[in-house]
Amino acid sequence: MDYVKLGRTGLDVSRLCLGCMSYGVPDRGTHAWTLPEDESRPFIRKAVEAGINFFDTANTYSDGSSEEIVGRALKDFARRDEIVLATKVYMRMQPGPNGGGLSRKAIFAEIDASLRRLGTDYVDLYQIHRFDYGTPMEETLEALNDVVRAGKVRYIGASSMYAWQFGKMLSISERNGWTRFVTMQNHLNLLYREEEREMLPLCQAEGIGVIPWSPLARGRLTRDWSEASKRSETDKVIPSLYSRTEEADRAVVEAVAEVAAKRGVPRAQVALAWVAQKQAVSAPIIGATKEHHLDDAIAALSLELSEEEIAALEAPYVPHAVAGFS
Ligand SMILES: NC(=O)c1ccc[n+]([C@@H]2O[C@H](COP(=O)([O-])OP(=O)(O)OC[C@H]3O[C@@H](n4cnc5c(N)ncnc54)[C@H](OP(=O)(O)O)[C@@H]3O)[C@@H](O)[C@H]2O)c1
Repeated sequence: MDYVKLGRTGLDVSRLCLGCMSYGVPDRGTHAWTLPEDESRPFIRKAVEAGINFFDTANTYSDGSSEEIVGRALKDFARRDEIVLATKVYMRMQPGPNGGGLSRKAIFAEIDASLRRLGTDYVDLYQIHRFDYGTPMEETLEALNDVVRAGKVRYIGASSMYAWQFGKMLSISERNGWTRFVTMQNHLNLLYREEEREMLPLCQAEGIGVIPWSPLARGRLTRDWSEASKRSETDKVIPSLYSRTEEADRAVVEAVAEVAAKRGVPRAQVALAWVAQKQAVSAPIIGATKEHHLDDAIAALSLELSEEEIAALEAPYVPHAVAGFS
């Protein structure tokens, strides 16, 4: 496994991050397709054994049960000091006032709840899951700085938002001498490339590590357009992300199939190699729910796409409406 420094930090992360949204009690939360604990653990173990040291979850995934499963598995299979454990805050965790968001109150309550579920006394990367239009940026950033100073968090990161929001937050932290975001976890794959306009150049200019989510477009890029899976039929987020520009998207999927066939490798490897090869990207966050998923992801790191192949993969893309920010 190759390791890189995460953005401009001194932190070593594997070139792949294991996305742990796939691991959670299926009837808790909103993702019925997730794997229960006994089926999840082998993937986390296999990732550790393959040298993956970077794991991403969130307080909201399967109503907290993803954090519980990941915490227990990492305790059994890894050494805490070697692991880079990332989680997130923002989404609603309970009904009623103060049940979500990025207020000082929510951040303080949610970091403690995440630490309890993960069974650890610190997380390496604490990320804001979305932009909170209902809380002043200063309040959020000062609270994040305070959880770092309290020793509960080592680094902070952000996830999908507009580049102007991220840029403004970076500058507020700097002006106040507060801990600055070191990562951007955003939506980037061959079916959604809008981040290439503003966010990726901003991250490169600011030394921010980019860790894209859903690099395979939640499986869309790995199979024929008409082919379905349990996840594609039950993942309620897929229609909101990948249904608006069907004709062009279908052509991208066909281009992936063609490049993969010429190379004699699975499509997933080609689609992931495209993301991993992008200059701004530190480590894509992958989802693995079948035995071969991790093997393909690891193999993708050694698959060097040529300029011609990249051009063929990118050619059918058309601009998409912004998606994945809410
Ligand atoms: N910050 C955010 O807002 C946000 C949003 C989404 C995700 N995330 C993070 O990103 C992580 C990854 O998200 P994701 O699961 O959507 O990523 P993904 O890698 O785009 O999709 C994973 C899906 O692709 C298919 N797949 C994976 N490897 C394959 C292979 N080798 N061959 C064929 N199909 C393959 C499987 O779909 P099938 O099961 O259909 O076969 C699998 O469930 C999450 O766990 C989470 O940590 C963050």
